[in-house]
Amino acid sequence: MNIAVFCSGNGTNLQAIIGSWKKGHIKADIKLVVSDLPDCYALIRAKNAGIKTLVIERKNFKTKKDFEAEILKVLKRDNIDLIVLAGYMRILSGDFISAYENKILNIHPALLPSFKGAHGIRDAFEYGVKITGVTVHFVTKDMDAGPIILQSSVKATEDDTEETLAEAMHEEEHKVYPRAIQLFVDGKLKIEGRKVTILE
Ligand code: GAR
Repeated sequence: MNIAVFCSGNGTNLQAIIGSWKKGHIKADIKLVVSDLPDCYALIRAKNAGIKTLVIERKNFKTKKDFEAEILKVLKRDNIDLIVLAGYMRILSGDFISAYENKILNIHPALLPSFKGAHGIRDAFEYGVKITGVTVHFVTKDMDAGPIILQSSVKATEDDTEETLAEAMHEEEHKVYPRAIQLFVDGKLKIEGRKVTILE
């Protein structure tokens, strides 16, 4: 199975995925890291791990359709079977998603369906929740609304600042995302409607 990881930022989740892969826990090939931003640190992490990188910037295409068509072309060329969104801060169209139906995973920094969107950690912190957490889910055309694969809770204490909470959240993400990818690769996820069963 060939995997492409999509990133727009620091790439700490990518790093955790690479770590798990190098230990042999993810039995697939991470073939490609795709980014929409040429200078994001995730690209350096990929290069350091010897993974091919590709920058496809939205601004170089007239329409979103053309932009996504280019991405699909490179995914096809590399026989990509699974797309892992790891801090990729763009919303993919329904057409793109149907080309990889049930083959796109995302990690979101909140316990969905709470705090959808681009600022899950901050929104939960400002809301004053006592428990938040991370969610790995299949990507469907509705944002942050696909079937949930794994969730894990993180406590927000009274001493937490947004920064300390973010640190705890990232730590949890780095455990949960590699595990979810491993389950997918091992064929252990069964989707029925909104429900995902883990076959052990
Ligand atoms: C992660 O916290 C991830 O959950 C979040 O972006 C961060 C990327 O960090 N994704 C979203 O908010 C998606 N809505 P990283 O680049 O260090 O992996």
